[in-house]
Amino acid sequence: MESYSYLHLGEPEDPSEYVVCKYRVTTDLTMEKAAEAIAAEQSTGTWTGISTLDRDIFDSLGARVTGIEGDMITVEYPAEDFSIEVGSVPQILSVIAGNLFGLGALKGVRLEDVSFPKSITSQFKGPKFGADGLREILGRPEKPLVGTIVKPKIGLSPEKTAEYVYEAGSGGLTNSKDDETLVDQPFCPIDERTVAVAEALDTLEEEGHLMVHAINVSTRGDRIVELAEQVQEWGAKQIMVDVITCGFGAVQALAEDPSIKVPIHVHRTMHGAFTKDPLHGIAMLPITKLVRMCGGDALHIGTLGAGKMSAGAHDGGNLAACLGDDVPYKTVMPVCSGGVHPGIVSDITGRAGMNVQIQAGGGVAGHPDGVVGGAKAMSQAVDAAFLGIPAEEYAKDHEELAKALAMWGSK
Ligand code: 3PG
Repeated sequence: MESYSYLHLGEPEDPSEYVVCKYRVTTDLTMEKAAEAIAAEQSTGTWTGISTLDRDIFDSLGARVTGIEGDMITVEYPAEDFSIEVGSVPQILSVIAGNLFGLGALKGVRLEDVSFPKSITSQFKGPKFGADGLREILGRPEKPLVGTIVKPKIGLSPEKTAEYVYEAGSGGLTNSKDDETLVDQPFCPIDERTVAVAEALDTLEEEGHLMVHAINVSTRGDRIVELAEQVQEWGAKQIMVDVITCGFGAVQALAEDPSIKVPIHVHRTMHGAFTKDPLHGIAMLPITKLVRMCGGDALHIGTLGAGKMSAGAHDGGNLAACLGDDVPYKTVMPVCSGGVHPGIVSDITGRAGMNVQIQAGGGVAGHPDGVVGGAKAMSQAVDAAFLGIPAEEYAKDHEELAKALAMWGSK
């Protein structure tokens, strides 16, 4: 039986014809053997030689290991390994992030990055609105968007939710959203919530303040577009989807369906199951790239340092993947969320810049002056960061910010 080598070290393929993946590998094997095991398993091989593999198949479809640097390997997959079906993330993931994670010979393997050739990027449409579209809707061209997550994440009635949103808008916030676990529970039916929140937003608009609220439509795949259509009819101006629990296909179905005419806010709950371990799983960078391809208009990327969630090793890359111009799509609004309060806003803008949405749940609802006071404090913190004035300085004549800094400190 002929044997085949997947090693092509130092011979990078034409990136316009290959999907290029970077994997971090921990193994007792040599890196060459580990890399070959991945390339074989994910393309034309398996754990043993097979009589059914011939030279033609191997040459045209076999993955190539083109780089090994320390614990990082580069594997390049021919574009022909991927489905010609339009934009199939499930099949892409089965190739670049499939069986390899279970290979017993590898102690750990983490997909750190991926880049796609034009033949694949052209199958996707990207965001309909993107960061610029969201800014246009809100009439806020430059300042960071500033938002809240209605808290408690479950429990408020539709009326109380709408009251929270109205108070948040009165305090100056541009965005609010359902939390990831709220969809359509008996204490807060989605139809009643959407209608009540839409009324609150209309009142704010009549008072001269533009604000949007993302209604979470995360549900089973065969119902999500229909639910999104319904919430639009009930008055939603933005929808939210939990991309990891619903799947990339859910974002794509919503973004590509012509009946969906509102931006999609993408929450990443559950990502920590595979992004947190620095030596195993999938980094946020490939996830971010896929969300942009699939059409998410805004995506949670963490707080880039401070905050309640542990920081990912490659957060900076996520930001670039949202806003970079190296792909043929509109940009995605990066959303910094998770333990945010006014005291860390300037830390966030210092790392992320101003083209960002900063949002706080506890950091608004936990303010001693309630939601209005918390919203004012967050808005003031964003204004201070935008003006380049230290929060402590700005707080001298902004009472709500002063109270927030006294309560939670600053970074
Ligand atoms: C999120 O959706 O990011 C979290 O629910 C944020 O909540 P927090 O601001 O209270 O941490």
